[in-house]
Amino acid sequence: MVKAIAAAAFAALASTAAAARCQNLTIPISVSARNGQFDVKNPTDNIEATNFALRMARQGHNYTMESLIGYHTVSGDYNISATYCEPDAGPGQVLQILTHGIGFDRSYWDFSYNNYNYSYVREAVDQHGYSTFAWDRLGIGMSTRFQDPINEGQLWIETAAVQSLTESFRNQQISGVSAQFQNIVHVGHSFGSSITYALTAANPGVSDGIVLTGFSQNASFASQFILGSNFIIANTVSALSSYPTGYLAPNSPVGAHIDFFAPGDFDPDVLQVAYMNGQPVTPGEILTLVGASGAPNSYGGPVLIVTGEHDTPYCGGDCFATGDPQLASIPAASEMFFPNAQNFYAAIIPGAGHGLNLQYSHTMSYSTIFNYLSQNGLSS
Ligand SMILES: *[C@@H]1O[C@H](CO)[C@@H](O)[C@H](O)[C@H]1NC(C)=O
Ligand SMILES: *[C@@H]1O[C@H](CO)[C@@H](O)[C@H](O)[C@H]1NC(C)=O
Ligand SMILES: *[C@@H]1O[C@H](CO)[C@@H](O)[C@H](O)[C@H]1NC(C)=O
Ligand SMILES: *[C@@H]1O[C@H](CO)[C@@H](O)[C@H](O)[C@H]1NC(C)=O
Ligand SMILES: *[C@@H]1O[C@H](CO)[C@@H](O)[C@H](O)[C@H]1NC(C)=O
Repeated sequence: MVKAIAAAAFAALASTAAAARCQNLTIPISVSARNGQFDVKNPTDNIEATNFALRMARQGHNYTMESLIGYHTVSGDYNISATYCEPDAGPGQVLQILTHGIGFDRSYWDFSYNNYNYSYVREAVDQHGYSTFAWDRLGIGMSTRFQDPINEGQLWIETAAVQSLTESFRNQQISGVSAQFQNIVHVGHSFGSSITYALTAANPGVSDGIVLTGFSQNASFASQFILGSNFIIANTVSALSSYPTGYLAPNSPVGAHIDFFAPGDFDPDVLQVAYMNGQPVTPGEILTLVGASGAPNSYGGPVLIVTGEHDTPYCGGDCFATGDPQLASIPAASEMFFPNAQNFYAAIIPGAGHGLNLQYSHTMSYSTIFNYLSQNGLSS
C-alpha cells in the first residue's frame, strides 16, 4: 500500500549552535488512505471561514458526523520535506520521529529563537545522543500542499505518510541516512499526537515507544481552540500567500496566544516569532482532529502523555479540574484507552499551556520525556 523511495536533496550541515549534524531531506512518498467525504464547502472568504468554525463549535452537535456523506480512497505522490539530525559522533541507536501540530511546521522542534535555547532537537541530539527526524506534515511548510483542503487534507492521509516514512527508516531506504536504528520512537505534538495515536492504533507494531505531547482524549474543549483561533483564509496573510484557498490561519497573534501560551509562562517575543512563522490548517484536518483518538488503542509499548496544566484545547485551561476525585488529570483518562500499554504515564507540566516547546517550562517538558524514555529502555 505504501511505497517510499528516498531521494536526496540535502544541503550542508553542521549547525553553528551545537554539535548536532543536520541535513534537509526531500523524500518522495506514494501513499493512500481512506478519507472521509464531507458535504462541506471549501471556505473561500473570511465570512465562510468563521462560519465553518461556528458550525464546528456548536455544543450538542458533531459537525464531523453531521456532514459526513461517505468515505473515499485518496492516493497520491507527494514530497515530504524534513530535517534529519544526529550526534557529531554518529547516529544514535534510537531515532525519534517528530510530528508537529496545527499552527507550526517542523521548526517547532528546533526553534531557533534565543540561540536555540528552546530547541527540543538540540537537547535530544547533543545531550541525549538521539537521532531525530522532524518532518513538515504532508500539506504544510515545504512538503507538498493539498489541492483539496476538505476531502484530501485530512488526518488519515498524513498518518499514511508517517507510516511510510517509518517503514522507509526501518528498511534503510531513506537516502542520505544509512543508519540501522535499534528503536524508533514517535513523538507528537497536538494534532501530531493524534496522528501518532492513529498510526499506532492501526499498526501497533510500528513504534517502539510513543510520546503524545499537548494531548488528551477529551473532546469537550476543542471548540475553545476552534473559536479562539479567529481563523481567516490563510492566503490573505502575506507570509502564507502561497497556500491554496481554504487553508485557515489565525488573523493575529492573539489567536496563537489563546491556543498555545499560558499566562506567565512565556516570553512575549516568542509569541511574535511563533505567529510570524505560523502555519495554517485545513478544514479537513479540523473535521478529522478528534475522531481518530476516539477509539481504544491496542498498542503495547511505552506510552507517555505530556500536557501543560493550562492547556486550552485538551483541558479547557485546567487539566486538574476533572470533577472526579479518582481521576488525577484529564489526560490520565487516556489510560483506559491503552489497555496493553507498558508503563502508561500522564505527566502534567505545572503552569504550561498547549505549546509546550515554546514556553519557559519547556525545560521540565523535555526532562520528563528524556527521563521516561531512559526508564523504559529507550535511551540512545
Ligand atoms: C534546512 O532548511 C531550512 C529551511 O529552508 C534552513 O533554514 C536550514 O538552514 C536548512 N538546514 C540545513 C542543514 O541545510
Ligand atoms: C518532488 O520533488 C521533485 C524534485 O524537486 C520534483 O521533480 C517532483 O515533481 C516533486 N513531486 C511532487 C509530487 O511534488
Ligand atoms: C535557556 O533557558 C533556560 C530556561 O528558560 C534558562 O534558564 C537558561 O539560562 C537559558 N540559556 C541560555 C543560553 O539562554
Ligand atoms: C463525531 O463523529 C465522528 C464521526 O462519527 C466521531 O469519530 C467523533 O468521535 C465524534 N466526535 C465527538 C466529539 O464525539
Ligand atoms: C472531559 O472533562 C470534563 C472536565 O473534567 C469532564 O466533565 C467530562 O466528563 C470529560 N469528558 C469525557 C468524555 O471524559
